[in-house]
Amino acid sequence: MNVAVIGAGYVGLTTGVVLAYLGYHVTCVDIDAAKIKLLKKGVLPIFEPGLEILMHVVQERVSFTTVYKDALPQAEVVFLAVGTPTNPDGSPDLTSLNTALNQVLVQLKGKVTPTILVTKSTVPIGTADHMRQRVQAARLRGQVYVLSNPEFLRQGRAVHDTLYPNHIVVGGEEVAVKHLREIYKPIVDQSFDAPSFAPRPVGLTRVPFIEVDLRSAELAKYASNAFLATKISFINEIANFCDVVGADIAKVVEIIGADPRIGPHFLQAGIGYGGSCFPKDTRALYYIAKTNNYDFKLLPAVIDVNNAQKYRILDKLREALGNLQGKQITVLGLTFKPGTDDLRNAPAIPIISKLVEAGAEVHIHDPVAVEKARSLLPGCVKLYHNILDALLGADAVLLLTEWDEYLRISPETFKQVMNCPIIVDGRGKMNMKSFSEAGFVYLAIGRPLRHSNAFK
Ligand code: UGA
Repeated sequence: MNVAVIGAGYVGLTTGVVLAYLGYHVTCVDIDAAKIKLLKKGVLPIFEPGLEILMHVVQERVSFTTVYKDALPQAEVVFLAVGTPTNPDGSPDLTSLNTALNQVLVQLKGKVTPTILVTKSTVPIGTADHMRQRVQAARLRGQVYVLSNPEFLRQGRAVHDTLYPNHIVVGGEEVAVKHLREIYKPIVDQSFDAPSFAPRPVGLTRVPFIEVDLRSAELAKYASNAFLATKISFINEIANFCDVVGADIAKVVEIIGADPRIGPHFLQAGIGYGGSCFPKDTRALYYIAKTNNYDFKLLPAVIDVNNAQKYRILDKLREALGNLQGKQITVLGLTFKPGTDDLRNAPAIPIISKLVEAGAEVHIHDPVAVEKARSLLPGCVKLYHNILDALLGADAVLLLTEWDEYLRISPETFKQVMNCPIIVDGRGKMNMKSFSEAGFVYLAIGRPLRHSNAFK
């Protein structure tokens, strides 16, 4: 079977490579010539663990092109996985999707056999209906079905999440859904041989395949991201309140997370969510609701909490150091989360700008994103590839991304190279007890050193 994937970003590329791993012949199309050039050479243009190895494993079955004609019309299924970034007013920018659809329709002109168009991009509710209208208006000879198949993979875990998803969601006409179910059968049944570097989770034998109507599929994606973002903003507010009343967010999370109705996930308080999805999708859902005359009361609060949250960590730093003028602050981590080189909406970028504004001397380390970050940061900051070099002489360390290599450094090692033993943990992930015992001032959101003044 021939499959085309339009858009070779985190979602498209992973989808294409995994489908090739399952045995399909895949052509990935992207308008970015530089990206395609790298992919043709077997080089991954993004950092995504396991994806490059998998791409080499399946190289016989996957090809890359900038030319739609190379992928269509022989493709029976076409996945649309182009970006839908945010316009200044919060609405999703559908330019890439519309351009891709136009190109696909041109290429399908002479085709007589059926084609299934599958939208993986996160798109406003009603987009698939609109696409159907476009297909009808194009008066093609062959039948073209439009399905919605939202993607739930996480960056940094993309290969794992695509091979072992929690669920597969598909909306659209039954006959086409049936076909897509066949394509996903090896994943649904978990009948493929797991790659050695991405082992199957213990006990996983079946992945739920959820068939719904188009609009429910489209909305489910936004609802999922908005709910997770709500969880994060909620726990960040509780953490901020912990600081006020002298409670410990780590204990509070341990307790509420043990309740299966709440669950332990996405309750990590800190500098808030970033990345290319939550900030974009929360704003988009609010916008879409508004254009449908629905006043979504919760979302603006979730967004506002997150916008303010990142700067709270600077109050913590000032709590320990007072004036930041001339102080050497070593920032550990730039990306919006570990396991990715993606700097889109990474809270570290505006935090660092504020540090520079406050007159701090900023030294920065990140395991994968230092080069990518250069153009996004003020020229005066110092960027390091070696962690210890970055730490040398620091008046305080500010952890902004919880990369494993940072969490593994012992308090003794930090102490040997730093000027002052001060750790400000923007992710609440370092071991507070061992740092405190080693004589550090350890500060994190929701983990106050002072006792409560709540009853005063
Ligand atoms: C998110 C969703 O988790 C995926 O299901 C979805 O497919 C994807 O968006 C998308 O729409 O494409 P992703 O953006 O890769 O995935 O990252 P997450 O792991 O969800 O983390 C998002 C942000 O939330 C990060 O900045 C992370 O540090 C932050 N976060 C996460 C917290 O601050 N606290 C938590 O407890 C969890």
